[in-house]
Parts: sequence; C-alpha cells; structure tokens
Amino acid sequence: MNIRVYQSAEQIAGAAASIYAAQLTRKPDSVFGFATGSTPIPTYQALIKLNQRGELDFSRCVTYNLDEYVGLATDHDQSYDYFMRKQLFDHINIKRENTHLPSGIASDLQAECARYDAAVDTAGGVDVMLLGVGLNGHIGFNEPSDAFVYGTNIVNLTESTIAANVRFFSSRDEVPRQALSMGIGQIMASRQIVFIAMGEAKATILKQAFQGPVMPQVPASILQFHPNAVILLDEGAASLL
Ligand code: GLP
Repeated sequence: MNIRVYQSAEQIAGAAASIYAAQLTRKPDSVFGFATGSTPIPTYQALIKLNQRGELDFSRCVTYNLDEYVGLATDHDQSYDYFMRKQLFDHINIKRENTHLPSGIASDLQAECARYDAAVDTAGGVDVMLLGVGLNGHIGFNEPSDAFVYGTNIVNLTESTIAANVRFFSSRDEVPRQALSMGIGQIMASRQIVFIAMGEAKATILKQAFQGPVMPQVPASILQFHPNAVILLDEGAASLL
C-alpha cells in the first residue's frame, strides 16, 4: 500500500486533486467513483478551484457515487445526491446526466442494486474511486459483517453508524436505517483507489485496517490487497501506524 502522510487537509486535497488532474489528462472521459462525508470536501473544493481556473475539464467524465440512503428523495438535504450537487457537481462543468447515484427511493431496491451494477459495468468500470472510512471501518456503506459482498447491496446500518449520523438530522428517528452501497468487490475492481482519512478519531480503525488481518469485520482491511491504492492521511489519522 502506498501510504502518504500530510500536515493539513489542504495538502491532502492538493495531492488528491493532482491524481484527478493526471487521470483526466490521460483519459478525459474517465469514470470516477465519488464519496460523501466530511473527508472528501476539501478535495472537492480543490477540484472546483482547478475547474474554475480552466485547468481541469470534467465535460466528458462520468461519475458513480458509492452509496445513498434508503428512503431519502434526491431533494432531501441529507441525501447524498443533494450533497454531491452542493459540494461538487453544481460548481464544475460536468454534465448532470453523467453523474449517477443509486436511488434510495426506488420501488424495488434489489432491482435498483442490479441496475446500478450493470450501469457501472457498461461504463467500463471505475477508473479512480475516492474513499473515506467510517469509525467502524466501513467503506461506502459496507458495514462490518461476516463476508465481503461483491455488488451493490442493501445495507442495514449499524448502531455506531446511525449514532455518527445523528448530527446531520434533527432527531435520531429521522436517521435512515438502511442504505444502498456499492459492494466491496466493485470497489476493489476500480483501477485506482484514493483513500483519505483525517483526524485521530480514525487512528485506531486505520491500524486495524492496514496493519491487522484482512477480514470482513474490518471492511477497509481489504484495501491491503488492492494493487493501486493511494492512502492519504493526516498526522492524526496516521498516529498509530
Ligand atoms: C458515511 C459514508 C462513507 C464515509 C463515512 C465517513 O458513512 N457513507 O462513505 O466514508 O461517512 O464520513 P466522514 O468523512 O464524515 O468521517
């Protein structure tokens, strides 16, 4: 694994943005896997800045996000669709029809998972997948479990994830209990992974994920087996490695 430690969120964002710049130069119609959460926001801001300065062109690129909450419509301000528009898509020259997230309000969620997998495959798979990590080691919304799941799946969110998300909703009852998430296999099939974690709160899980055994109880541990994963950490997140 290619682990790099930086002193600030801005430096991490700059490093991530340079990977995107290189990728878009090589392949203007790249397929990007994007993530939500607070961690990717500085990277998205760096991408917006480069795009607005005319140094990065998203006009031909295609995106597939990792996950979406079940039951939240795209105009709900906590839906990941809304997040992506506000944090990135509304500010860059990407074509709206080229951006994709699984639909958490599809009438048949199982069919929606299959549709999403097929769409990613038809697009040729993901060139660069951006990942954060949950405090329990989840990537996308793949929670700790007894087996690694390949494709997009319906996830029951754990108590710890629900607790971590309460801050975004007005009450605990409003926090979605399920999500649709790209599977671990699909994430691993991405040609490159850019994984970002910041802050001491993530240090313990990162030690387990990157220096412990690879096991589905620590979903991020699978990244030890990815041939092209760049791990961008700040000093807090890296403090136990
Ligand atoms: C959610 C997302 C993950 C993200 C995680 C961490 O669970 N589904 O993709 O990595 O939040 O969020 P944060 O970056 O805010 O710590």
